[in-house]
Amino acid sequence: MMRLEGRTATVTGGAGGIGRAAAIALAAEGARVAVIDLQKEAAEAVAEEIRGSGGTAIAVGADVSSEPDVEAAVREVVDAFGGVDIAFNNAGIIRRSTAVDTSVDDWDRVFGVNVRGVFLMCKHVVPLMAGRGGGSIINTGSGWGLTGGGQAISYCASKGAVVNMTRALAIDHGPQGIRVNSVNPGDIDTGMLRDEARQLGQDASVFLADAADRPLRRMGQPSEVANAVVWLASDESSFVTGAALVVDGGGIA
Ligand code: NAI
Repeated sequence: MMRLEGRTATVTGGAGGIGRAAAIALAAEGARVAVIDLQKEAAEAVAEEIRGSGGTAIAVGADVSSEPDVEAAVREVVDAFGGVDIAFNNAGIIRRSTAVDTSVDDWDRVFGVNVRGVFLMCKHVVPLMAGRGGGSIINTGSGWGLTGGGQAISYCASKGAVVNMTRALAIDHGPQGIRVNSVNPGDIDTGMLRDEARQLGQDASVFLADAADRPLRRMGQPSEVANAVVWLASDESSFVTGAALVVDGGGIA
């Protein structure tokens, strides 16, 4: 028995890294999946991969920081699948700089994607979920949204906002049967980590080795975050809402 049979899931940032792994994992549990990403072609490749394994998926091109894009994307999902039961709001970007070195444009872009993107997806899927008697929203925060971290001022601030927005959403929409949780990864082996090494002018292999200096002595794999997302999406987590689930191999700072 698949855990998400008959449900529809949206996954933003679904073309890469954690989002791609989650889209595949949600589909493997029987969900119909909409892979939403700025990179339409890469999203299409993920949808194709899911369909190739017998799952159901569509790709939707959208910039989550744009309300017209998000409205159009959600409409496309409803036209294709009839509604939304699960929303994994995961698209995110990082800028590695201190407050002194961060431009206002970079600050606004990080908040546009990481915070406004999550807000816009919630704004447009909550009424659909409420109309169906409930749903599950999972927002991607970060270990650094809970602890802070060095040389990532806009990112840490944005992820702290995601964690607390998640709690506020859980309070507002629990009575409608909608659970809202955040998943907070530590270092996960994705393109984002390589981008961070580039931004800091570090050799990617040294940066990735440092990232593995944790109790479990390795970086995480996208599929290990995806497993947590599937659990939060499923009825197995039926009494869990407003939670900040950390998936980081133990210890972040
Ligand atoms: P990634 O860079 O591999 O994938 C991010 C995806 O989001 C890409 O496919 C990209 O095209 C898409 N995207 C970016 N801006 C977008 C926009 N405006 N609209 C739509 N799609 C957009 O990154 P990764 O590592 O998979 O990150 C996923 C989430 O996990 C992010 O929110 C990130 O902050 C968070 N995270 C990642 C960690 C890591 O170590 N990789 C650690 C903690 C949190």
